[in-house]
Amino acid sequence: MKARAAVILAAGKGTRMRSPRPKVLHEVGGRTLLAWSVALATDLRCERIVVVVGPDAGDVSTQAARLVGAENVVVQREQQGTANAVDAARGRVADFPGDMVVLYADTPLIPATAVEAAFAEVAATRGVCVIGFEACVPGGYGRLILGPEGDLERIVEAKDATPVELAVSFCNSGIMAGPAALMYDLVSKVGNENKQGEYYLTDVVALARGRDLAASATPCAEADVQGVNSQAELAAVEAAFQSRMRERSMTDGVTLSAPETVYFSWDTRLAPGVTVEQHVVFGVKVDVAAGARIRAFSHLEGAQIAEGAIVGPYARLRPGAVIGRDVHIGNFVEVKNVRVGEGAKANHLSYLGDGDIGAGANIGAGTIFCNYDGYFKYRTVIGEGAFIGSNTSLVAPVTLGPGAYIGSGSVVTKDVAADALGVARGRQIDRQGWAKTFRDRQSARKKAGDKPEGAV
Ligand code: UD1
Ligand code: MG
Repeated sequence: MKARAAVILAAGKGTRMRSPRPKVLHEVGGRTLLAWSVALATDLRCERIVVVVGPDAGDVSTQAARLVGAENVVVQREQQGTANAVDAARGRVADFPGDMVVLYADTPLIPATAVEAAFAEVAATRGVCVIGFEACVPGGYGRLILGPEGDLERIVEAKDATPVELAVSFCNSGIMAGPAALMYDLVSKVGNENKQGEYYLTDVVALARGRDLAASATPCAEADVQGVNSQAELAAVEAAFQSRMRERSMTDGVTLSAPETVYFSWDTRLAPGVTVEQHVVFGVKVDVAAGARIRAFSHLEGAQIAEGAIVGPYARLRPGAVIGRDVHIGNFVEVKNVRVGEGAKANHLSYLGDGDIGAGANIGAGTIFCNYDGYFKYRTVIGEGAFIGSNTSLVAPVTLGPGAYIGSGSVVTKDVAADALGVARGRQIDRQGWAKTFRDRQSARKKAGDKPEGAV
């Protein structure tokens, strides 16, 4: 395989998004459009990945630098067209000893296989290759004009096309591959004599043909090249991503009770044999092992769930929730940064934040880990087999030994030893007959119109 480079165009202003956030920093499946395109280039084993950003790109440059290294972020000073954008990366890529691909940062769903096909074509022909698609509504896309042999003769932009050319429905996705040195040689020859006065990358095709070099178009599905230009298109791409993930997880042996109500992130990992009930949201970094069941209306992010665990209904798992084998996390239980040992149960109405729960422990309804003093956070450690009575506040830092037993309604501020009983609440007092005496006295006063002081 030839060495590969990628130039990712991210200099667009994205004005149609009407958002203060730059377009390529909007997310699909919990990952920014920019990160999607860098991930694609990485999947394609591109050893040099350069991101072209606009002037004053601020956060885009920062994120791009984090993803590909600051030396691989280049600025296109003025938006003079796609060839001009590619040209901005000349200093990083023109002397690259291998093949390159141009990717758009606003087109996140392109499968690596489609780009592999273009690279394969380039490897075979040493010419240029674009990814094309049959457009339902060709509209403003560039049209791929094929020769008699099915080879690509040129690309004409919709604004410059004749009516006959406009009738062509095989369109340009914008993704183009070719040997890096050749691409940069051709880009330097692109002019701007067209309706938009822009330097079109698409002109590279006719320039290559003019030198008797090969040019071709490999097809891909229209759904795979959906771009994001507006909030509505962002939502459409998100929906397409979600339906892919649903299909993929079902193909992998995951049971989804109502697939259309389950939302995935780009990195959601569900093992075969996992069951996910209705209306579940997976934020980023969730990993669920075989046989676990995620019950309806649960929200999970940054969580790891072991075999046989049951989470929900209505559970919330936050980053650092590590749920052991056969653990039960029930309704209205929030878990953050807590490791829950095998077989432990927290079935109702609890906040468990920053701590460790031993295997087999039973966390009663209404247990709260008081982990925050307004400035710092502290850990709660519960030993194996401990039993926490309902409505207990555990004021961290605090450690309960294995087998400890906490009386309901306690506010625990000190450690409790293994197998000890800890009770921290007022003692119960019973007075025989008190209630009846009280009622008799008050009703007599009411009849006599004798209001106690302060009554309204
Ligand atoms: C481009 C293609 C068209 C194709 C379509 C697919 C050209 C001339 N036309 O048209 O054939 O059908 O994409 O969506 O290439 N960009 C820069 N700097 C610039 C101009 C653009 O970085 O100066 C970036 C944009 O941010 C965007 C991408 O390049 O990510 C494409 O630019 P855009 O203006 O959307 O091109 P189209 O007119 O849609
Ligand atoms: Mg466009």
